[in-house]
Amino acid sequence: SKRIGILTSGGDCPGLNAVIRGAVKSCHQLGYDCVGFLKGYEGLYDPVQYVNLTPSSTKGILNQGGTILGSTNKGRFAAVKGVEDRVEIAPHLIEGVKETVRQLGIDGLICVGGDGSLAIAQQFHESGIPVVGVPKTIDNDLQATAFTFGFDSAIECATDALDRLHTTAASHERIMVLEVMGRHAGWIALHSGIAGGGDVILIPEIDWTFEHICEKILHRESQGKKFTLVVVAEGAHLPEGGMVGAEQDGQQVKLGGIGKIVTDEIQKRLHREARLCILGHLQRGGKPTTFDRVLATQFGAHAVRLIVQEKFGEMICSRPPDMVSVPILEAVHKIRQVDPTGPAVRAARALGISFGDRTA
Ligand code: F6P
Repeated sequence: SKRIGILTSGGDCPGLNAVIRGAVKSCHQLGYDCVGFLKGYEGLYDPVQYVNLTPSSTKGILNQGGTILGSTNKGRFAAVKGVEDRVEIAPHLIEGVKETVRQLGIDGLICVGGDGSLAIAQQFHESGIPVVGVPKTIDNDLQATAFTFGFDSAIECATDALDRLHTTAASHERIMVLEVMGRHAGWIALHSGIAGGGDVILIPEIDWTFEHICEKILHRESQGKKFTLVVVAEGAHLPEGGMVGAEQDGQQVKLGGIGKIVTDEIQKRLHREARLCILGHLQRGGKPTTFDRVLATQFGAHAVRLIVQEKFGEMICSRPPDMVSVPILEAVHKIRQVDPTGPAVRAARALGISFGDRTA
């Protein structure tokens, strides 16, 4: 019978286990075997690490966060960057993976991963390894797919945090700053900011100034609202055009950079009490929401279908009401940012939410 391999690579996110289960159950229906490689791409080579996946071995994982297969971020396979952001993987690693695929009789490999991991999958494809991709990022910032699983769970967590910060901010008449994830795009900040009643939302897509933030806070005070909730995406740029949150010189820097600067600056300029909450990896842990379970399950099942159809080098994407696939090559490194004139931003502005860019 045919044999399918699956692995999860890069940062984890709620719904990975639902993808695995979706793939395993579909394989079972087709009479295919399924194996799961451990620790992302690392499990494919030296030492090869895998487990047999069956409906019974994946029982009960649908609602669990994380990934039963483990994951690796920036391991050996991502080590070398080639020209124009293409990942060049050392030839001996590619040969090693080919050997694993041959020895275990893998007819197709499902790679569940974000941008960086999909670039590796593309390299595999070009080397003749039969791969298909499943997109994964809580940031929801891939152009090819309308939604990625994990995003809904992340905004659920961020919204809950805002609900909690709301009551303590009101009690103490404070400014509370919540820093959320979103390296290149402000989707988490925007959606949780709207859902959680944020007053100011700072995202990478809209240039903002401290003056406008302070003006908004003072305007609220003039209306008798003595507290303010500020949501800031980790990737939001400093007014001077600097970057602190997500990347500096291509290096990932710690969360908490931009949030701290915003909080300190508000406190300094307004002489009001401001407090910072860095939500961090709480957004990536825990149970997937219903929406994410459904999406992730569909991704798992459709990834198996892609292999059955031998559509190698393709990635599953959600294009409501359809589930389609596109070449992985077309999907990687294509970030979808928030449209500053789009409906969500317009609606937020209509409610009086400030993006720190205009007079309140
Ligand atoms: O891309 C997903 C993401 O969650 C970003 O929002 C965040 O910058 C990054 O991953 C954090 O990665 P790590 O867990 O490796 O610090």
